[in-house]
Amino acid sequence: MTSPHNPSTGSRFPKGGRAFPHRDLLAISALERHEILYLLAEAEQYVAFNRQASKHSEKLAGLTTINAFFENSTRTLLSFEIAGKRLGADVVNMHAAQSSVKKGETLIDTAVTLNAMRADAIVIRHGSSGAVGLIARHVDCPVLNAGDGQHEHPTQALLDALALRHKLRERGHEAEDFTGLTVTICGDILHSRVARSNILCLQALGATVRLCAPPALMPSGIVNMGAEPFHDFDAALDRADVVMMLRLQNERMDGQFIPSPREYRHLYGLTPERLALARDDAIIMHPGPMNRGVEIDSAVADLAGRSIITSQVEMGVAIRMACLDVLTRKARGVPGWGKGEWV
Ligand code: CP
Repeated sequence: MTSPHNPSTGSRFPKGGRAFPHRDLLAISALERHEILYLLAEAEQYVAFNRQASKHSEKLAGLTTINAFFENSTRTLLSFEIAGKRLGADVVNMHAAQSSVKKGETLIDTAVTLNAMRADAIVIRHGSSGAVGLIARHVDCPVLNAGDGQHEHPTQALLDALALRHKLRERGHEAEDFTGLTVTICGDILHSRVARSNILCLQALGATVRLCAPPALMPSGIVNMGAEPFHDFDAALDRADVVMMLRLQNERMDGQFIPSPREYRHLYGLTPERLALARDDAIIMHPGPMNRGVEIDSAVADLAGRSIITSQVEMGVAIRMACLDVLTRKARGVPGWGKGEWV
């Protein structure tokens, strides 16, 4: 357990806005370990809330959140929409395909337009790394990164951490971090913002991270992030506690990165036989969408007691509720979240 940061209040976290002093949520790389733990702790109340029959709160009543998605999404878009609605906000979705982006409007002009509509939070997914940070510099409200190019997908890493923590807790592990755990992430690391955010988040929480990909899909500078690279999946799986599979991001591939999906499955697909190389009770994760029969077999993806893929989706709503709640506290005038806390 983390030691208390604030003994006078008994809280494990700094008080009020100092617990999370950022206006935006752009990247896990911008967060301290205690800030990650704070968002996870805040999300716990929403896990319980979302399991009730009635799931409506008025916490964000009167606020408007805009989900501006310049790339396709099922899980992230829907969970941000559900999160905002369950908190009582007015939620508006902007799909780039139906927007004036198609008429040539620039990203900055789009950002300025959303800002003029006085949104209280803007959630953005964009195909270019850094685009969400650029938008954040042109608006006055909190901006949440729902995935930018190959850079980061911070709420994915947070929901993965929450799902993993819940599974470990179910097995009797009370620690709130992942010290002593080995997590193997396998797949298209090169194009994966999920991998980047997860490497940072898992390491911040004490896990050892192994990365596995064919040479063409392993970024050259990845060792600088402190994870151990592998090209041999069997070696990467050896006694791993958690196996996180990633899909091939064909939409970001310009040219031939793998000989064929069949060959890829043979070398890097998670089959029941391969899974046996990890620990007996190894936990299986995948951020979705899955390519069943390519990077993961259905017998593994649906393995009861081991796969937490649907739990990852459930935790996505709770994490996004927590992020919207925390980032709008200043706008809502929540005591302790006054002036000067945004950095
Ligand atoms: N994991 C994830 O980001 O899924 P979507 O692309 O469906 O949002």
